[in-house]
Amino acid sequence: MSDTIGTIDPAEARARAAARLGRRRFEHSRRVAELAAKYAAVHGASEDEARTVGWLHDICRDLSDDEILRAAARLGVPVGPLERRHPVGLLHAPVAAAELRAAGLDERLARAIALHTVGAAGMDTLAKCLYVADFCEPARAFDGLQDVRRLAVTDIDRAAGAAARLTLLDVIGRARGVHPGAVDLYNEQYGAR
Ligand SMILES: [Fe+2]
Ligand SMILES: [Fe+2]
Repeated sequence: MSDTIGTIDPAEARARAAARLGRRRFEHSRRVAELAAKYAAVHGASEDEARTVGWLHDICRDLSDDEILRAAARLGVPVGPLERRHPVGLLHAPVAAAELRAAGLDERLARAIALHTVGAAGMDTLAKCLYVADFCEPARAFDGLQDVRRLAVTDIDRAAGAAARLTLLDVIGRARGVHPGAVDLYNEQYGAR
């Protein structure tokens, strides 16, 4: 397996996921890769790139809090108070992106992986397909999900905004801190109303 993966294909991404993830997370990544590819096909992004980022997006999700904090320090990923409180939850995406970027992964793909948990303003179609696929993959079930699934095959921008809204409602409902990236993504859709 090459360490230079700027052009990593879905098969190599799948092998990397298999080497890093337990069975449950591997199956989740498979479902996200397939759904992201479906959304990419509908919205004019690359299906192969979507499969690649789908397979790779959670490769750091099975690390412990200590391991992810050490990896963040090693790779220069910023750690604020919110990240320190939820290390794996909030750092597995940017740490995976930094690790893959250092190994030569294309910046656009690395950015999509970096943003898959909380989102940001100005995400491209690939990043939104991954973010929405991770939110909508078939094993998930919660109130409001059907609306996001419907939007995901007609308007990926609105789907991403709706997913950010549901995420914010959930996070605020549990009295937890809100990541600014999620608010920025929400505001892209709802900020001018
Ligand atoms: Fe994730
Ligand atoms: Fe995921």
